[in-house]
Amino acid sequence: MTGLSKVVVLGAGNIGGSLAQRLAEMDLARELVLVDIVEGLPQGKALDIQESAPILGFSTRVSGSNELDVLADADVVVETAGLARKPGMSRSDLLAKNAGIVQTHAEAVRAFAPKATVLVVTNPVDVMTYWFRKITGFPTARVFGESGTLDTARFRWFVADLLGVAPRDVTGFVLGSHGDTMVPILSLTSVGGVPLTRLLPPERLAAIVERTQKGGGEIVNLLKSGSAYYAPSASQAELVRAIALDEHRLLSASAGLDGAFGERDVYIGVPVVLGRAGVERIVEVDLTPAERQAFGASVAAVRADLDILNRLGGAPGA
Ligand code: 2OP
Repeated sequence: MTGLSKVVVLGAGNIGGSLAQRLAEMDLARELVLVDIVEGLPQGKALDIQESAPILGFSTRVSGSNELDVLADADVVVETAGLARKPGMSRSDLLAKNAGIVQTHAEAVRAFAPKATVLVVTNPVDVMTYWFRKITGFPTARVFGESGTLDTARFRWFVADLLGVAPRDVTGFVLGSHGDTMVPILSLTSVGGVPLTRLLPPERLAAIVERTQKGGGEIVNLLKSGSAYYAPSASQAELVRAIALDEHRLLSASAGLDGAFGERDVYIGVPVVLGRAGVERIVEVDLTPAERQAFGASVAAVRADLDILNRLGGAPGA
């Protein structure tokens, strides 16, 4: 396994813990460190994961820490720390609180791991990824956000379930922000190569689009005390693997736009090629006029959150 020497997962909550388990089992790194401010939590989860190694056969060394200096020499950092939604909340409602946490972590990454590639997961993710990059001053290629891979997985599952086909045979893209304005791209979705629009009538397609847009909220409403973590951590692990194994995967992720899709100075979900260098390039696909309009509305929603962040003067309480 080529892999990475060190991955640090910031935040040992449900997402951080679940992601650490997936990454260890994928054996992608020599060392995996879970970090959290709660004493004992990252150490306990790390040891628990490590003790599964003899059964599962992975070699990754897993540890936990309450200190940010363990970021030293990390190749990849995943920022999962922050509050999760409760029923009735939008991801944007988390902005003020999570911006402070992200600021502290970005400053530590800049100091201890200046060469790391960073995957941001904390919500509202497009805004937090922008904020993380701004604080670190890293090239945009080395800071990207999760968003679209998770939304696309949900979309693909809903399509597969409705059609009764294998989930892996459904391919497509959900672009735009990781929020209610996300844009499942029907014109780029196919099932074993057959365009989705030939398989389902418009009203069924509209229902799948709406369920995808509310996919995170559907889980929050069921769990009542937190948000999803199994599908999110699977999507994050897919992104980390693309970097670790230099896979050049074409996936949807929140990337910094500098003219692509006619937008600048914003992070939002677009198709990217991901490899060891991070975001190798943004793939500017053709969208239908309606999809382009919906994408524009999604960019506007992220810009509105960026304005709130700026009005807060960056991150309060950091
Ligand atoms: C979700 O959509 C946690 O934002 C994440 O479930």
